[in-house]
Amino acid sequence: MVNRKVDQYAVIGNPIAHSKSPYLHAVFARQSQQNLSYRALLAPLNGFEATVRQFIRDGGRGANVTLPFKLDAFNLCDEVTPGASAAGAVNTLWFKNKKIVGDNTDGIGLVTDIARNAYLCLQNKRILLLGAGGAARGVMLPLLECQPAEIIIANRSSEKAWKLINQFKQFGKLSCTEFKDIQGQFDLVINATSASIAAQLLPVPDSVYAPTTLAYDMMYADQPTLFMKHATKLGAQTRDGWGMLVEQAAESFYLWRGVRPETAKLLASR
Ligand code: ATR
Repeated sequence: MVNRKVDQYAVIGNPIAHSKSPYLHAVFARQSQQNLSYRALLAPLNGFEATVRQFIRDGGRGANVTLPFKLDAFNLCDEVTPGASAAGAVNTLWFKNKKIVGDNTDGIGLVTDIARNAYLCLQNKRILLLGAGGAARGVMLPLLECQPAEIIIANRSSEKAWKLINQFKQFGKLSCTEFKDIQGQFDLVINATSASIAAQLLPVPDSVYAPTTLAYDMMYADQPTLFMKHATKLGAQTRDGWGMLVEQAAESFYLWRGVRPETAKLLASR
């Protein structure tokens, strides 16, 4: 039963049963003494908009959006923030004055996790971004706002990498390369491909890793991913996407409630 006396939030996706968002937001709400309810909503693959509109009629105040609906959410919004516009995708919705407004907190989640939790300041650093799909696009602007020395994008299809370069080149030094031609060492290597899902190792030269390199997989799983295991073997530091997930949730919570939740305990809880 939905308790209409408290503010309603949800995460909408398909599948959704595995989502950690209800747990994260319940912790944030308890910790900051915010009276709200947050649940997981399964939307039919062809029924995202109907699910959102029903949720609004049921008293919904805001929602997170996860796979495969981030693009649908972007298209559904009456207004989007500049960050969501750059990402071309929306993961956070709120409803005000009969309008649906969207933002994207994924990129902020990533850079907050790297800077605050992994203690890596990205200013003047070399970044290697593996992948040029939706996940990569979503983090480009927040990464560039950290003023790295450069970002080199490596992707199977160079066409997609060039698209990213053309979209973001006014914000910093960008270039692209094939995996096998990647040159030099990097301070940060981000896996934004979906290769980890298929347990495939990317053909990245071993020489990209130094002992100080942070190899960051945007995916998270109970076990280290293949990408992380390989980087560990080569002596690099590794991190998975758990911190990014926690920090993007914290940012959504802040957008909705105006209160910034504490994330340290959640980060340490696994
Ligand atoms: P997402 O929203 O997760 O980014 P996507 O937009 O489909 O999903 O992008 C998937 C990314 O993973 C792409 O960069 C894709 O490379 P291509 O653009 O060349 O298809 C990359 N990818 C997926 N599987 C891969 C693999 N086995 N090896 C290398 N790159 C892979």
